[in-house]
Amino acid sequence: MANPESSFTKVAETSEIPLGKMKMVKIKDEEILIANVMGKFYAVSNPCPHKKADLSKSAIEGTTITCPLHGSKFDVITGKNTLGPKQMFSRGNTEALKTYEVRVQGTSISIYQRSSWGL
Ligand code: FES
Repeated sequence: MANPESSFTKVAETSEIPLGKMKMVKIKDEEILIANVMGKFYAVSNPCPHKKADLSKSAIEGTTITCPLHGSKFDVITGKNTLGPKQMFSRGNTEALKTYEVRVQGTSISIYQRSSWGL
């Protein structure tokens, strides 16, 4: 049986992500966006599912991330797309962001590993 402690990968220190800020980290080829929402940390996939814009270049308001390219909005807790891109001929919502399990121990932020990472 796998050791659950070894299933988390450290990605950042809490001091690197102040309240209301975000930071992108990379594990293998996967870009993950860590957000500090009122002292609790959440992790979602970083590339926008619409046209792969870098969501770490946007700001977070409450729990909402707004894509810097076409304005899609995502909830950082659920990953759900709450508003589609503001683009003519591109109506409807984009896919949700992937969410990741986050663990904070002391000042270390860790993400639950996906088996595809092979770490
Ligand atoms: S790339 Fe994000 S909404 Fe288009």
